[in-house]
Amino acid sequence: MAFFSHQICRGFSSSAVRNVVIKHVTIIGGGQMGAGIAQVAASTGHTVTLVDTNEDILKKAVKGIEGNLKRVVKKKFADKPEAGEEFIQKALQNVSTSTDAGSVVQGSDLVLEAIVENLKIKQDLFGGIDKLAPAHTIFASNTSSLPITDIASSTNRLDRFGGLHFFNPVPVMKLVEVIATSATSQETFDSLLNFSKKLGKTSVSCKDTPGFIVNRLLLPYIMEVIRMYERGDGSKEDIDIAMKLGCGYPMGPFELADYVGLDTVKFIMDGWSAANPDNPVFAQSELLTKLVAEGKLGKKTGEGFYKYK
Ligand code: NAI
Repeated sequence: MAFFSHQICRGFSSSAVRNVVIKHVTIIGGGQMGAGIAQVAASTGHTVTLVDTNEDILKKAVKGIEGNLKRVVKKKFADKPEAGEEFIQKALQNVSTSTDAGSVVQGSDLVLEAIVENLKIKQDLFGGIDKLAPAHTIFASNTSSLPITDIASSTNRLDRFGGLHFFNPVPVMKLVEVIATSATSQETFDSLLNFSKKLGKTSVSCKDTPGFIVNRLLLPYIMEVIRMYERGDGSKEDIDIAMKLGCGYPMGPFELADYVGLDTVKFIMDGWSAANPDNPVFAQSELLTKLVAEGKLGKKTGEGFYKYK
């Protein structure tokens, strides 16, 4: 943490606002991550406006949230069905939806984006709402692989901009990576940490480095595993068993890559490899490129390294 405070000092600006207690959140992007974050935020007493490009996606997202809440309640309130129903209703009442981010950011303490992993689209989004959001509003991105600094550069609130990186599925996974750029104020960082805590998550922090902690270690691991298989050093089944039983990992690396999505793995690695062409850690894999070109993207398409029914 010491490095962090030092780094932050340079980021203080006279316009920095005091600690923001995050009560109302606008979440932009109602896909798997955005809907998951909305569910957890609404269940922990925050009001949430979920934004996406059309009503159908939003309806699907809210339906998904309701279905997940029912599953949670079945376990958590097994003996108290009435309390469970009240929990669901309260959480759902906390969620509203919109297709127009600009018109809903006024009342937000935090605007968190979980839209498509594309720098220009994320920059356009934040650049567009920067003038519409109140001065105290914190902006954050859930990006998996893009520098927060680059996304924030489209706004005039660099001290109130950070990263909040959740894991999939959000209601289940305990970790949030909280990222400060060199311009993020200490107040903003503290507000984001407190928000993560209120969501019931455990937070870790790291510099605005590609992939933060988890993906920076996970993606090169997966790529090295694929290269090992390409060289014929071991079968994918044996490599998976080895990492599960030898390291105590719940999933083998090929199972995990299929779960994450091979297109996602390739997309992230392509970006890092273009930015660091001489670093062998980010080198491409012919096999991964072939599988993605064939549409074998993992569990979601029924086939990746393994076949799924
Ligand atoms: P997704 O494809 O499930 O959802 C993205 C949603 O954003 C879609 O519903 C899309 O209609 C909407 N969208 C796109 N552009 C928009 C715009 N300009 N305004 C409003 N809505 C817009 O994607 P997913 O998986 O939820 O990922 C979202 C972000 O979260 C990405 O940046 C990804 O890298 C990051 N992430 C993904 C994880 C994963 O395991 N899927 C884990 C952690 C982070």
